[in-house]
Amino acid sequence: MKKVLLFLLVAVMVFSFAACAPKTSPAPAPEAGAKYEGTYTAALKMGTNAAFPPYEYKEGEKFVGIDIEIAEAIAKELGTTLEVVDMEFDSIIASVQKGEVQVGIAGMTVTEDREKEVNFTHSYATGVQVVIVKADSSIASLEDLEGKKIGTQLGTTGDMYSKDDYGEENVTSYGKGADAIIALKGGDVDAVIIDNEPAKAFVAENEGLKILETEYAVEDYAIAVSKDNATLLADINKALEKLTADGTIDSIIAKYIKAE
Ligand code: ARG
Repeated sequence: MKKVLLFLLVAVMVFSFAACAPKTSPAPAPEAGAKYEGTYTAALKMGTNAAFPPYEYKEGEKFVGIDIEIAEAIAKELGTTLEVVDMEFDSIIASVQKGEVQVGIAGMTVTEDREKEVNFTHSYATGVQVVIVKADSSIASLEDLEGKKIGTQLGTTGDMYSKDDYGEENVTSYGKGADAIIALKGGDVDAVIIDNEPAKAFVAENEGLKILETEYAVEDYAIAVSKDNATLLADINKALEKLTADGTIDSIIAKYIKAE
């Protein structure tokens, strides 16, 4: 109680101080869009691969998920709307480079190789590469994966890293994570390496699978923007800062990822 009172007292003092401050204090917040360098009349086109729950997936014909909602919030901040363009994960970076879409938002990990091709905004989430096996599997650690058949989603970090670590001949890359899961259930592969949140979603939907406790890689997700569009990069970073500060990003994530 005392703490609350103290807080209120301090708040009142700060407030009255601010009220007396000279006229140099910052102007009131401008309207949405106004504080950004670019003008956004057309819809913001987002390239994604909507087969990656809870970040992006389809509910009927509708695109839903964390990335979709964050992108909608950013578009709104910039004073425009969002258009989702669904494609293979593997095509997103090229599509951003060619300007077919302005942003790539797909639970995309920042890597050195990708940074040579596109710019990344500030990170908005953490991802962890995990290993899914059958519940009765003898695979219990990363070492146990040696010589085993691994399934991945083509062009993802899990795909690239596992080819490096366990040999290309041992890795089968599928177009979608869900197809790798089907292969695991059917015995075509012994393990699937994929990001932790989709892994949880796939394991919840499919009986007889489990996620190993060991983490294969810890990564940052960010938004890919063309190297030719520095204005958009700066504006999205500004929008992300605002949406982080006002709790929008956290509440979108909390809506899809329930705290354990
Ligand atoms: N985080 C991984 C990567 O960047 C996987 C992302 C896959 N995303 C998707 N929407 N399918 O490579």
